[in-house]
Amino acid sequence: MASPQKFRLLGLTNSCRASSYNQMVLTHIKTHFEDLVDLHLFDISKIPFYEDRAEAFPFSNEISDLAALMGQSHGLIVASPEYNHSVPARLKNTIDWMSRMPNKPLLRRPVMLISASTGQLGGVRVQYELRRVFDATDSRVMIKPEVFIGKVHEKFSLAGVCTDQETGALIKNQLQSFFDWMKSYSLNLNCLEEDVTHQ
Ligand SMILES: Cc1cc2nc3c(=O)[nH]c(=O)nc-3n(C[C@H](O)[C@H](O)[C@H](O)COP(=O)(O)O)c2cc1C
Repeated sequence: MASPQKFRLLGLTNSCRASSYNQMVLTHIKTHFEDLVDLHLFDISKIPFYEDRAEAFPFSNEISDLAALMGQSHGLIVASPEYNHSVPARLKNTIDWMSRMPNKPLLRRPVMLISASTGQLGGVRVQYELRRVFDATDSRVMIKPEVFIGKVHEKFSLAGVCTDQETGALIKNQLQSFFDWMKSYSLNLNCLEEDVTHQ
């Protein structure tokens, strides 16, 4: 099967700080690799908190839009902060919503994880928590290379510019590996067909 000229990816982060470093990481990928990737950055801040009874009502526009975009994407890039060694509530809530949507947008969806933290470890723990969550949704998280950006405030300027060459190289290498991995993965699971929605 032919690979796409350009990967259509969806970028998610926790979206609750105007100057979020994880948002900067996604923006860096979007702007530096636009010849390879069409990265749609979706703002999850309007996604309401999940309620069981909400499933009986029409889904809000944000939820339906996200499910549709995710279903039409070749894969996800999740850039997450770590909150108290775990997944920030908004991001987890969004994944919970998507796990309940009729088009099953997370099912077998390739996922690249990256995390940035002002702490030393760069979000190692949140990535392992996220792997467990994406196991439950039967998504496909790329195993390696793993990228944890510790002390991110020393590696990105306040204007969102990546000032650390090594970090820039790690991100580039991870992204290239994600593309290669998706291509080989598609040979088995046909996830790169033009219509990638799993209805
Ligand atoms: C409620 C809260 C909990 C946090 N817990 C952790 C943590 O467990 N580990 C860590 O490395 N950083 C932790 N941090 C610091 C974040 O890594 C830091 O604020 C980071 O910049 C958040 O990502 P953002 O810039 O994308 O919003 C925490 C921050 C907040 C607000």
